[in-house]
Amino acid sequence: MKFRVYILVAWPIYIFVMNLSYSNFPKFITYKLVLLFFLFLYMHIDKLNRTYKKNTKHSNLLYKKSLRFFPGGISHNIRFFSPYPFFVKRAVGKYLFDVDGNTYTDYWMGHWALILGHSPKNVSLALSKQVKNGTLYGTVNTVSVELAETIQKLMPKAEKMRFATTGSEATMYAVRLARAVTKKRIVAKIIGGWHGFNSSLLESVNYPFDISEGLGLDVDNKYIQSIPFNDLHTSLQILNKIKDDLACIIVEPILGGAGCITPNNDYLQGLQEFSKKNNIIFILDEIVTGFRLSIHGAYKMFKLDPDLFTLGKIAGGGLPIGIVCGKSEILSISNPIDKNNKNLICSIGGGTFSSNPVTMIAGLKTLEFLQTNKKTIYSKINELGAYTRKELQKIFDENNIDVKITGIGSLFNIHFLNDNVKEINNSNDVALTDKEKLRKYHFALISKYKIFFLPLKMGAISYQHSKADIDKLLTSTRSIIESKIL
Ligand SMILES: Cc1ncc(COP(=O)(O)O)c(C=O)c1O
Repeated sequence: MKFRVYILVAWPIYIFVMNLSYSNFPKFITYKLVLLFFLFLYMHIDKLNRTYKKNTKHSNLLYKKSLRFFPGGISHNIRFFSPYPFFVKRAVGKYLFDVDGNTYTDYWMGHWALILGHSPKNVSLALSKQVKNGTLYGTVNTVSVELAETIQKLMPKAEKMRFATTGSEATMYAVRLARAVTKKRIVAKIIGGWHGFNSSLLESVNYPFDISEGLGLDVDNKYIQSIPFNDLHTSLQILNKIKDDLACIIVEPILGGAGCITPNNDYLQGLQEFSKKNNIIFILDEIVTGFRLSIHGAYKMFKLDPDLFTLGKIAGGGLPIGIVCGKSEILSISNPIDKNNKNLICSIGGGTFSSNPVTMIAGLKTLEFLQTNKKTIYSKINELGAYTRKELQKIFDENNIDVKITGIGSLFNIHFLNDNVKEINNSNDVALTDKEKLRKYHFALISKYKIFFLPLKMGAISYQHSKADIDKLLTSTRSIIESKIL
């Protein structure tokens, strides 16, 4: 029940009881009544928070300790949720096991990276062998060539590629390459689009989108132009004005972090067409979608021909990776061997841990498994995704709760609509939804039903999930609605 309702009920009772205390009514009974009343209040207000705290005492202590070392107690901004995140000590299949002995069914799945679930057998076995043979050679290795070959076979538009350690690096290199080949400066990105923490792309990520994402970004933001997702007309109007200095357009095929929003039919095609016409590099950020929507990438699904595209997450099989891929003539300008003139080379990195054999083997084993079992895997996770979206929508509709479930394939998110927003087409629409309700819904799933979504973020289904897991999510959702938590 809502806090406001408690106050409304509580206040007259409190006055009544206080009045009694001025009458001839025995004082000790009055005090007992007041005490009982506050006990009742305590029992019912914020029950979810109290249940969570009761079940995660060790996590609470660990979080307090981690505040001594990390600003905000975390090493990735989105990993905090109120009152504090639970600490995980083990993860297998679809489950997370925390330090207090709780087991959660995981729909966050390592920032959506773990399509095969946590620690899949074939990957773990190969990893334990590899660890015995070295984790970082600091020079070239065979398995990186095998991984590159596998990626190219599956995604032939990866004519050339460079392995890095994070997705943020990959998108940063893609932008640098685009600026280098076009000799232009401006980068166009989508409002709400997320490409990692590099300064070249850290703008218009969070609402309100028209103010800076924080301190220290002004210099880089000078050359970023943001455009609205799924609004081709406005996007092209903006782009037309800056096309002479526009180096690239970078776009996620589906807006992931911003709310799991699929593109309108002509949006991505329209941006691509504009890029090709105006000597602008079209970059598709497939760090979430690559190997998730289809083994051949979202570019194949949406019939796109990006000049550059970035991969990450699934490609590393659960270990750190970022890859910038694309047309040979573009990536070749980063070739440091043939040219010894610094002015002719676009210097992109990789870094100490790039192509390390551990990540390479995990990525390779993951992609091999996906390739061998692609029919079973993709039909299973996509069918479960469709089932989840349809059934969740049905539950909310039946209960007259205005909700829009978005998503595609094995990805989905929930948006609580209100008078300000009735459709979800871009990040601005998502910003107008009732985020507090979504936070409550996700937190109720965590606290009461041990189902983990990172609050507010989209969910991902892995090969380890089953229909029974989805059914548990559905019955838990029904109970949450019935208990008037939302
Ligand atoms: C679309 C997209 N691009 C880039 C990144 C950044 O990747 P990383 O977190 O590995 O730096 C992310 C991370 O979530 C992402 O979703």
